[in-house]
Amino acid sequence: MKEFKVTPIRNGTVIDHIQVGTALKVLRIIGVKEDVSSTVSVLMHVPSKKAGWKDIVKIEDRELDPKELDKIALISPDATINIIRDFNVAEKFVVEVPQKIVGIMKCANPGCITNKNEPVEPEFVVESKKPITLRCIYCDRITTDISENVI
Ligand SMILES: Nc1ncnc2c1ncn2[C@@H]1O[C@H](COP(=O)(O)OP(=O)(O)OP(=O)(O)O)[C@@H](O)[C@H]1O
Ligand SMILES: [Mg+2]
Ligand SMILES: [Zn+2]
Repeated sequence: MKEFKVTPIRNGTVIDHIQVGTALKVLRIIGVKEDVSSTVSVLMHVPSKKAGWKDIVKIEDRELDPKELDKIALISPDATINIIRDFNVAEKFVVEVPQKIVGIMKCANPGCITNKNEPVEPEFVVESKKPITLRCIYCDRITTDISENVI
């Protein structure tokens, strides 16, 4: 018997193993706001079988696009995406931090060209994945405070 804390969903996406304390940031990334039009369940501070605690977000009738997945990887590198079809886990994968981060983060340097209303998309190189460290290709500023700068 499977144990569920919320009603199972027929179709949608379960974002599992979210770093504990980041579920609300994940909601912001996937655009869940007051005017949301699908059912969303948020579980915070759930015991994890692996170790410690995790958050979980379940969204009905939605799949995530690649940019959303990249942003989730930046703030929660071990998150697992489960695509639910007809109540079953049809696909499962761990998000992956891409080698190049383009257009999904702003540079923390206010003087950077990417913050000057020029038609330049912010772009970063991943210097390290754990802890996640990004270097702006324009001004070389290192950003470690990812969640503050995700667009
Ligand atoms: N129909 C569903 N509705 C809502 N949540 C579901 C549904 N099916 C699975 N889940 C949730 O999706 C996640 C992955 O389900 P799965 O059955 O693969 O669990 P698991 O074996 O613990 O996976 P993992 O090894 O990734 O931790 C779990 O959090 C589970 O509660
Ligand atoms: Mg599990
Ligand atoms: Zn910069």
